[in-house]
Amino acid sequence: MELLDKLKWRYAAKAMNGKKVPQEKLDRIIEAARLAPTSSGLQPFEIYVIKNQEVKEKIRPVAWNQSVITDCSDLLVFAAWDTYTAERINYMFDLTNKIRGFENEGWENYRQMLLSSYPQKDAEENFNHAAKQPYIAFSQAITAAAFEGVDATPIEGFDPAAVDEILGLREKGLRSAVLLPIGYRDESNDWLVNLVKVRKSTEDLVTVIE
Ligand SMILES: Cc1cc2nc3c(=O)[nH]c(=O)nc-3n(C[C@H](O)[C@H](O)[C@H](O)COP(=O)(O)O)c2cc1C
Repeated sequence: MELLDKLKWRYAAKAMNGKKVPQEKLDRIIEAARLAPTSSGLQPFEIYVIKNQEVKEKIRPVAWNQSVITDCSDLLVFAAWDTYTAERINYMFDLTNKIRGFENEGWENYRQMLLSSYPQKDAEENFNHAAKQPYIAFSQAITAAAFEGVDATPIEGFDPAAVDEILGLREKGLRSAVLLPIGYRDESNDWLVNLVKVRKSTEDLVTVIE
């Protein structure tokens, strides 16, 4: 199947059947998220993989009681940095230097530019910027799941403060941004499974300027 066929196959499953996703498939889905591009390469988020059923049961009521939270195989929680600090910025720049094995003046100047801007900004403004970044990884995970023939339901319908509390995210300088239950569709209980996918036409979506 071509990638586009897989993207047509995928949909935001409203019911899942509890079947476990093989670990190697889950690993590839998470790897696709890890490989996502981010602003300045900072990867300002972490991914929690909730396999524990009791934790899923705690999250479901604060996520609009959506059944996929408990009936998925693995619940991915994308948690963004609560702000940008010098330590966090330096960590990624130092990691780059270590992995590449050299320092570069242009790159070091760029580090200084980021250090002179982000850490001085209001934490909420920084969080709002950081919180956009996991969406790119989340999208890659959704695509990778489709590629693996696995369902993934994007979920913004939850109370972030409550999820932060359940997972103890604030103490770690993190705030939940978006959820992604990974599992298998329950075709017999999902009202959406046979409905036609609705998207704007390309003409309505795209403007080409020659
Ligand atoms: C960021 C984001 C948040 C979403 N939140 C929810 C949600 O909380 N519950 C839900 O059932 N669907 C949620 N959706 C699914 C969308 O409603 C769905 O992707 C959209 O209607 C397109 O349909 P399709 O994904 O089935 O093709 C969300 C989608 C995105 C991208």
